Amino acid sequence: MRRYRYLMSPLNVGSITWKNRIFKTAAGSNMMVGSNGYVSEVLKQYYWSFARGGAGCIFVESPDIDFPLGMPVPTWLRLDDDKFIPGFRELVDGIHRYGAKACIQFWHAGPWHLKIFTGLAPLAPSPHCEPEIKFLFPPTTCEELSIERIEIITDKFIQAAERARIAGFDGVDVNCGANHLLGSFMSRFWNYRTDLYGYDSLENRSRFTVNIIRGIKKRCGNDFNVGVLMNGTEYNMRDLGNTREECVEFARIFEAAGADSFQIRPYQYMNITCYWPEQFFYPEKKDDMPKGMDFSRRGPGAFIPDADAVKKAISKPVFTPGRWNGDLDYAEECIKHGLIDAIGITRGLNADPELPNKIRDGRVDEIRPCTACLTCLEGHYLPKPTYTYCRINPFMGKDMEYESYPEARQKKNVLVAGGGPAGMEAARTAAMRGHKVTLYSGDNFLGGLMPMAAMVKGDYPENFQDIIDWYGLQLKKLGVKVITGEKVTPELVGKLKPDAVVVATGAAERSSSVPGYDNSKVMDSQSLIEKMRTALKFSKPSHLGKITRLWIPIGSSAVIMGGGIRGLQLAAFLVKRGRKVAVVEEMETFGQGGLVTTMWILCNWLRKKGCTLLPQVTYEEINDKGLVITDKHGQRRTIEAESILPLEPLVKDESLAKKLEGVVREIYTAGSCNTPGLIRDATNEGFKVGMAL
Ligand SMILES: Cc1cc2nc3c(=O)[nH]c(=O)nc-3n(C[C@H](O)[C@H](O)[C@H](O)COP(=O)(O)O)c2cc1C
Ligand code: SF4
Repeated sequence: MRRYRYLMSPLNVGSITWKNRIFKTAAGSNMMVGSNGYVSEVLKQYYWSFARGGAGCIFVESPDIDFPLGMPVPTWLRLDDDKFIPGFRELVDGIHRYGAKACIQFWHAGPWHLKIFTGLAPLAPSPHCEPEIKFLFPPTTCEELSIERIEIITDKFIQAAERARIAGFDGVDVNCGANHLLGSFMSRFWNYRTDLYGYDSLENRSRFTVNIIRGIKKRCGNDFNVGVLMNGTEYNMRDLGNTREECVEFARIFEAAGADSFQIRPYQYMNITCYWPEQFFYPEKKDDMPKGMDFSRRGPGAFIPDADAVKKAISKPVFTPGRWNGDLDYAEECIKHGLIDAIGITRGLNADPELPNKIRDGRVDEIRPCTACLTCLEGHYLPKPTYTYCRINPFMGKDMEYESYPEARQKKNVLVAGGGPAGMEAARTAAMRGHKVTLYSGDNFLGGLMPMAAMVKGDYPENFQDIIDWYGLQLKKLGVKVITGEKVTPELVGKLKPDAVVVATGAAERSSSVPGYDNSKVMDSQSLIEKMRTALKFSKPSHLGKITRLWIPIGSSAVIMGGGIRGLQLAAFLVKRGRKVAVVEEMETFGQGGLVTTMWILCNWLRKKGCTLLPQVTYEEINDKGLVITDKHGQRRTIEAESILPLEPLVKDESLAKKLEGVVREIYTAGSCNTPGLIRDATNEGFKVGMAL
């Protein structure tokens, strides 16, 4: 607690006092999917978990205040009608019960509205169209707002704030950042108007937001907090992006209009991951790092220069988000030295809602680490939107199904076979519930394939070692006996006589029938993994990663057979080590099994680095020259390469579970041994098995 004295100190914001300087930033959770815009039970539980975990204030995600044009899609939360108030009231009551304050963000999609869902043109200050706004889908022309329509929307913001007040919220946060509606009016890039809301002065550009702030204060009362979330410096907009100086001037204007707090985030147009500063290092440090951000800590604190400039110019509290869970010490420093007043966190709290309580109680080493994988974004990009989920916090979104970690009715001796994420999570959850657990890892280390993946992917921004270390510590604290370097066999189980065995031994490699597979050029993934396994007995993944920059048993040119997540990651590893790489894939798209966002970034990066990506190929044969394929145009050709690396999707392997039938009464399988998948699938399955025991 003393170490984070400033972070844990109270903060006055407008008419309210937060108990500490950590707030949950507003972030779309999709937890209302299927609830027709009403607050769902799972959404309430989701936000209550942050309040229970000790955050000083919860900024609830934005509802649609101008349905259906106010949001990109018509399936989000709504607060455009009084009928939605009761659900929000229950949500707010729950947040207050835990001593946290509750605010709600309001933004209007403007150009971000997707016409494909409603047939309605998105709204904007000026009639933008493709290719100017590259994310319009389908390509369409935005409707230029008339002054009358601007006034109607202004009133909708104010009415929604009145509803928020009735629901019990302590305030609203007006999001005029990014380049949705309010932000695009403030921009010289998007706003071509010449009227009262035109581009020619800061007053005109900010008039829309100013009228909203003033209107809310007038109709909801001065004690109802109005915060502003705004862009700091804007990048990638030729010379028309807002400068830091303009951002400071806007903040002064909003303060004069009555705003109680400011959240500042720089913005980089056409960079879908610009709000996650560590992603500027994925898959390697970008060439065009924005000059005005502070990347000295590779993410945490990157937005401080803009936030600090605003802080110096105004008297109200200033906040900024951005990977703070990666450097809490620096967060403490920034608050101590008055650069900002509080930090906003989303992903760190998704990974561990108890983060603030753990800081308060001096249990920082117990904070479950967010690994910056962006899996939590995925729910938004899937064809059928799903609840947001976290790769390493399987509890997220499941409070409805499970009540905390209920004590097991019958305490059992549980043997977990496998030290990967599924096995570790099953062991952890089972031990939390009071079972006596022993975990066997066939490797000399914990983590299953994660250390190999860590070596291939490097240690930034994702660091698998953090997950392994966290599980290692948790298992130790929970009294789980961990035995490494010993495989589980029916004989061992017969000897130990556990009540239940959880088989989490991972998937198997798929064997290939391509003629010439036995050619000496081929290094199949099993032998690659075995080599890494041996090396990992003596060295940490990060160290091995460095050694492989000097030497790897792979020729100067390589073909990777299989463009799924593993194939692309291996390609990046080889490209970074100077290899000429081609990735061939039988299917139409690359990156199967990976996240839409990161796979898209990775494919672009690989192409930029000269890597060839060939989809829809048929494998013909492997010969001494390389791999012979028929490409998608039906042409037979040889891709010459010194090494050929087949990385086909993994297949399930339940052989141990089958062998154990009749040896032990209860057998469970978890993770890739029954359904090959990602870490999020493995932890999810391990958790469910741990709960079922
Ligand atoms: C799934 C997801 C959805 C988000 N949606 C919003 C949003 O609707 N409004 C917003 O202002 N920020 C949104 N954000 C950005 C977060 O509020 C925050 O600024 C960002 O995640 C950086 O903080 P972090 O590093 O603590 O996650 C979203 C972030 C995530 C991960
Ligand atoms: S899904 Fe990944 S990025 Fe998102 S909170 Fe969890 S660990 Fe962090």
